[in-house]
Amino acid sequence: MVNEMNYATISHVMEDWESVKRTKDYEKVAGTKLFRRLFDKCPQAKLLFGFPIDIDVDSPELLQSKRFVAQAIYFWNMIDTSLNMLGPDIELLTEIMTELGAKHVVYGVKPDMFPIMGEALFWTLSEMLGDKFKDENEKAWKETYDALSADMIRAMVKK
Ligand code: HEM
Repeated sequence: MVNEMNYATISHVMEDWESVKRTKDYEKVAGTKLFRRLFDKCPQAKLLFGFPIDIDVDSPELLQSKRFVAQAIYFWNMIDTSLNMLGPDIELLTEIMTELGAKHVVYGVKPDMFPIMGEALFWTLSEMLGDKFKDENEKAWKETYDALSADMIRAMVKK
């Protein structure tokens, strides 16, 4: 559970997150990378965000779509909001993630999409941070992402 996480792991994750924010237009750059990777590995996810399943992730139609860019930025900010909750209110976080999991059932998200989103997130971080994103950074991210996901998935499966 996320409220059992160790502080050192969280602080590694937050340091990487702050480094990403040093890139110009990071929400757009990172958000669109994440979405393209996610859509490539999980075509069903395109439908959940309102795009046709057969749209090519490299097509100018998608990449120049204002809606695609807006959704990608919005989603990057969702992760930001979730990570910011890892701070002082961590006790409440399992409860919040449980509610968020129930909402994801309504959005049509399936538990098996979580590892794919996780892989797309770690891939995006390594693209954004380059050599600074080492194995130990990925390990801290994986631990954090898995803890957040586990709380969400538990609520989804119970439904
Ligand atoms: C730990 C993993 C995740 C976190 C922290 C997260 C976080 C969030 C948050 C905070 C929202 C906004 C909820 C609201 O309406 O109040 C959201 C919406 C959404 N999430 Fe996730 N999410 C995660 C995983 C996923 C996965 C794996 C998918 C599917 C591939 C997904 C698809 C969506 C969709 C489709 C929406 C609705 C977007 C819209 O309003 O158009 N999420 N997520």
